Amino acid sequence: MRFSLSTVLPLAMAISASAQGTTSVYTEPKTGIAFETYMDPTGYAFGIALPTTPSTDFVGLLVGKGKGWAGVSLGGSMINKLLIAAWPSGTSLISTFRETPRIGNPPEANGSYTMTPIAAGTYTNATHWSYAFLCKGCILADGTTFASNASTDVLGWAFATAAPTMPAAHGSALPKHSTQGNYGMSFSAARTAKYATYAALAGAPATTPRAFNA
Ligand code: HEM
Ligand SMILES: *[C@@H]1O[C@H](CO)[C@@H](O)[C@H](O)[C@H]1NC(C)=O
Ligand SMILES: *[C@@H]1O[C@H](CO)[C@@H](O)[C@H](O)[C@H]1NC(C)=O
Ligand SMILES: *[C@@H]1O[C@H](CO)[C@@H](O)[C@H](O)[C@H]1NC(C)=O
Repeated sequence: MRFSLSTVLPLAMAISASAQGTTSVYTEPKTGIAFETYMDPTGYAFGIALPTTPSTDFVGLLVGKGKGWAGVSLGGSMINKLLIAAWPSGTSLISTFRETPRIGNPPEANGSYTMTPIAAGTYTNATHWSYAFLCKGCILADGTTFASNASTDVLGWAFATAAPTMPAAHGSALPKHSTQGNYGMSFSAARTAKYATYAALAGAPATTPRAFNA
């Protein structure tokens, strides 16, 4: 008996998503943003908040541990999907869009999407780092990300315990992830009437104000 790829693939993805976890709401304490979030025992987390009628933008949260990088595939698999990776460099957070047609260190992606940090949710502490951001133009209609109208879909996660080769450079080569996988993200649960308030936090000054030239 033979199954066509199109029959087998969605089934396999649905099974792997249910076997490897789903999402639930996590209210990030420093920003108060309620993210629909996937959390992994490695210390990895990715959360998302969407407008009630999503178009191209979302508010995201990536959390990792130590000096390693963490990433999300907005389309589920590693290949030909829009990837986001972030990692700490000193007390700063570095982030980058990546995309690759083949397995291996993905080059930076060249699109009109942008990320703006949300200061209160972007920090490093003794064990973890956290990157909260507004992602503009990040939900695409070309199949490289989930669809704006999806109520649920499979996303991918990846976490490396090793640091990027040149942590201060957003284009740094990345060592391969130590762990990775897929899960089912509930985009319907991520939709919130508070989206505009959350998005407005991006680019706001840090909680301790200081003079521009201080
Ligand atoms: C930096 C060099 C990288 C290498 C050498 C690499 C290699 C691989 C390999 C070989 C797999 C298949 C599973 C396995 O055998 O381990 C995989 C899966 C995966 N990778 Fe990467 N990867 C890299 C970077 C990234 C980045 C930057 C991201 C996301 C930001 C990512 C996301 C994923 C995801 C989500 C999967 C699981 C889904 C799938 O199999 O396509 N990878 N990677
Ligand atoms: C983006 O542009 C750079 C510089 O031309 C190139 O090296 C890289 O491969 C491009 N990225 C993708 C995903 O095509
Ligand atoms: C460090 O940040 C992470 C991610 O927000 C959090 O889970 C952890 O409790 C924080 N640790 C300390 C010591 O504050
Ligand atoms: C989402 O929009 C696409 C393109 O307009 C349409 O084909 C698809 O049926 C819609 N899906 C849902 C779940 O509404």
